[in-house]
Amino acid sequence: MDKLVIRGGNRLSGTIPVSGAKNAALTLIPCTLLTEEPLTLRNLPRLADIDGFQHLMTQFGVSVSIQGKRPEDFGRVVTFEASRLTSSVAPYDLVRKMRASILVLGPMLARMGEATVSMPGGCAIGNRPIDLHLKALEAFGATIEMAQGYVKAIAPDGGLPGGDFDFPVVSVGATENALMAAVLANGTSRLFNAAREPEIVDLCNLLVAMGAEIENIGQSDLVIHGAKRLNGATYKVMPDRIEAGSYACAAAITGGDVRLEGAKASDMASTLHAMRNIGIEIDEDPKGINVRASGALKPVNLTTAPFPGLATDMQAQLMSLLCKAEGTSVLKETIFENRFMHVPELSRMGATIETEGRTAIVKGPADLTGAEVMATDLRASMSLIIAALAAEGETTVRRIYHLDRGYERLEEKLQLVGADIERVGDD
Ligand code: UD1
Repeated sequence: MDKLVIRGGNRLSGTIPVSGAKNAALTLIPCTLLTEEPLTLRNLPRLADIDGFQHLMTQFGVSVSIQGKRPEDFGRVVTFEASRLTSSVAPYDLVRKMRASILVLGPMLARMGEATVSMPGGCAIGNRPIDLHLKALEAFGATIEMAQGYVKAIAPDGGLPGGDFDFPVVSVGATENALMAAVLANGTSRLFNAAREPEIVDLCNLLVAMGAEIENIGQSDLVIHGAKRLNGATYKVMPDRIEAGSYACAAAITGGDVRLEGAKASDMASTLHAMRNIGIEIDEDPKGINVRASGALKPVNLTTAPFPGLATDMQAQLMSLLCKAEGTSVLKETIFENRFMHVPELSRMGATIETEGRTAIVKGPADLTGAEVMATDLRASMSLIIAALAAEGETTVRRIYHLDRGYERLEEKLQLVGADIERVGDD
């Protein structure tokens, strides 16, 4: 297994290209199951999770062709064609590594009248149930059965009628699954308290390009008028706001000056607001964001929340940055119950962080020093990289398969702006 070795202390400067968004891609790809016509997605990031998802599509009989991009380019153009589906079962072996596989349930059910998906695994950041995915599909008229670790959704003869569902908790994945089922239902469906994340807007925009009729896109009450059939489309995946935010933290912790080419500021307003309060200079333009840090970092209090609140996927990276702030910061995690797994590792690097339930108290400024650390989940892994860039000496980050799931060519991008980082084989 590879590891990353980082020698901290270099000030980052230059331009990092922002990739297509992993979390958007993972909900755009299963839209291919909704149509017999080809779906071409541009700007797909090259990531282990995306490869896994493409492989899952082939399991259903979808043809997948990757077009004319040179290996040195970022992003990919991939055409999916689900003219005939040969299976409606997502097996354990493929699903266990990728929680997002549950996102095939809604579209497969809508197209085939039934879908069977192994219960998902994925990041160990809490219990992460799928009850809301299932309840929304039930509200649309599906019957749900669970047996031997699999969940099976069955539509009545003649297809899903559609219906109304009010989410008791905002869920990104459950909103996505419900949307992808509702677009092919026989009637109109309404979703209340739906997630409003930019990735949901990206999904709605693709579905509309495929011929779906959706009202109130970007709002929490969505109205979906079911269509008899959807057409193919060519669509560009949105920029990755979490990747961009992560590199913004990396630039800031080194006192750097970095342009995030392709980042969309309006998708990451809460992160940028937090960073400005920390004392980072942020300039936005239509093609990207410039991040400049000079002078002392200020402590802040932050609370994660569904969009437009501060993304839980930015909490770990901001915590690393706040280790260098001059004073005490308080971070509250409201979305997942087990999302402070980076804390013991940051402490091993010299950070002073106390946790009480879902609150972390960060006392800065810490003199971070290099250490051998272990990545535990995707964003926690990134927080260790960020801390390592500002630490004195060498840090070795192990278990980097988490990073390969979510950051396209991480070390290349950091090398572009002057980081001393290399991937080496484990001994
Ligand atoms: C997605 C993102 C993930 C991000 C999260 C929150 C993808 C592939 N992943 O995950 O990176 O951290 O949104 O922004 O897009 N919940 C239930 N029952 C359910 C579903 C969720 O109780 O059926 C709860 C969860 O335990 C959690 C909260 O709802 O407390 C939000 O989770 P959700 O928005 O569903 O996260 P994911 O879609 O899994």
